[in-house]
Amino acid sequence: MARSKERPRQHRKPTHLVLFPCPLQGHITPMLQLATILHSKGFSITIVHTQFNSPNPSNYPNFNFEHISDGLSADQAQKYDVMALVALLNINCHDPFSDWMARMLSEQDPRDMIACIVSDALMHFTQSVADHLKIPRIILRASSATSFVTCAAFPLLREKGYLPIQDPESETPVSELPPLRIKDLPNISTDDSDTLYQLVAHMNNETRNSSGLIYNSFDYIEETALAKIRQDFPIPFFPIGPLHKYSSGSSSSLLPHDQSCMVWLDKQVAGSVIYVSFGSLASMEKEELVEIAWGLANSGQPFLWVVRPGLVRGSAMAEMPDGFEEQTRERGLIVKWAPQQEVLAHPSVGCFWTHNGWNSTVESICEGVPMLCWPCFGDQKVNARLVSHVLKVGVQLENGLEREKIGWAIRRLMVEKEGEEMKKRIRKLKEKADRCLRKGGSSYESLDRLVNCILSFKRTTPGFSPTGSGSIPQTSSRGDWGESG
Ligand code: UDX
Repeated sequence: MARSKERPRQHRKPTHLVLFPCPLQGHITPMLQLATILHSKGFSITIVHTQFNSPNPSNYPNFNFEHISDGLSADQAQKYDVMALVALLNINCHDPFSDWMARMLSEQDPRDMIACIVSDALMHFTQSVADHLKIPRIILRASSATSFVTCAAFPLLREKGYLPIQDPESETPVSELPPLRIKDLPNISTDDSDTLYQLVAHMNNETRNSSGLIYNSFDYIEETALAKIRQDFPIPFFPIGPLHKYSSGSSSSLLPHDQSCMVWLDKQVAGSVIYVSFGSLASMEKEELVEIAWGLANSGQPFLWVVRPGLVRGSAMAEMPDGFEEQTRERGLIVKWAPQQEVLAHPSVGCFWTHNGWNSTVESICEGVPMLCWPCFGDQKVNARLVSHVLKVGVQLENGLEREKIGWAIRRLMVEKEGEEMKKRIRKLKEKADRCLRKGGSSYESLDRLVNCILSFKRTTPGFSPTGSGSIPQTSSRGDWGESG
């Protein structure tokens, strides 16, 4: 490209961010929360999304939304293999996103330069787009730092023979990652077991190549893991959580919230209700649903249970066992989808029976609600171990669901002294979470550093002669980005 054809370069503070969430509920929510936070700091926001699970733009009038092709057939979008779906999205979205991004960069407003891409860690293909277009990419990890440390150790765990997991019920400790046991290692059922390992390997590599890493976490709950990442990943690192405390996730919900449960909660005794929800993806066998139903019925406690469509494998809507409704009508409520953050903040709620998705785990900690942990797949097992054995604010249900076992675990949490101790501990964590967000707190400071880091990316105004499709505007090289660490 002849220099004489270039317009003079101008260095401006970049103020426009392109955010690419992974289109799953537990990932869309933290990304839109992050977008809201960064918008409040003066950045303009474009959310690039797939048709599959697309968010509702009308809930975010201040953001631009750009839809790109995900190439998924109706069959692929329906199929219940999350790993295969994510792997496919990483292939299908590459070219549409790259083309759109190149166009955006060539047409961008010099007063609102694109500073960087912020993408979910699972959407690892965005790093190669960023590299090709010479634009920084920052990652948002929607899961825990502890699970990332575990994933980063996958090569070692494979070398030592822990992985691939031979016995998913093995209680053998993983001495390299205490207090995890083999059964706690991230696992997920997928048609092709290599998909998980490949995805984790891509994620780890592209994290190293990125320009920064954002976490929905904070020092008091994951001190060890956060320190380990700081040490092992030489990139700027921003634990800014809990994200939902800046901005709730209600507008990013893919299912409508049933608000009627709030009125029902108002009528219950303080601290008496068990809130039961297993997030947006976990599913179970019919027999497991029956054990949960009778475990709740026999506990004698009031309960609010989220039974979303698809929770029971093979049926659109779960059927409750005979006699259950008659027995629990007076003290149980079932809804398809609840306003979870409001529910957890309600004084009637005394315990959260959760699958330990990371958002649910953080939301529970931030409201000081102890957990009955029933992790299903992936990072959830690591999170459950963190909750029950490191933070000691929950009890884990293990080795199959049986109504007697459920009743016993509920008693430990809601009746026994042990439960009282957990309540005290989790309330302290709640206070610490609040403190992290105040001026001088670790998350507050991390957010400041994140904003400064983005503003330090030296972008230049487009000043090149177009050479047809795929032409890229002049940007400074990676070495010029000037991170703020
Ligand atoms: C997924 C993975 O399963 C999880 O392990 C990973 O950590 C994040 O992505 P999901 O299973 O949906 O997420 O669980 P979770 O992370 O807990 O996110 C669920 C979100 O849905 C939470 O923000 C929760 O508040 C919301 N929710 C859940 C509702 O709004 N209403 C409900 O009834 C249930």
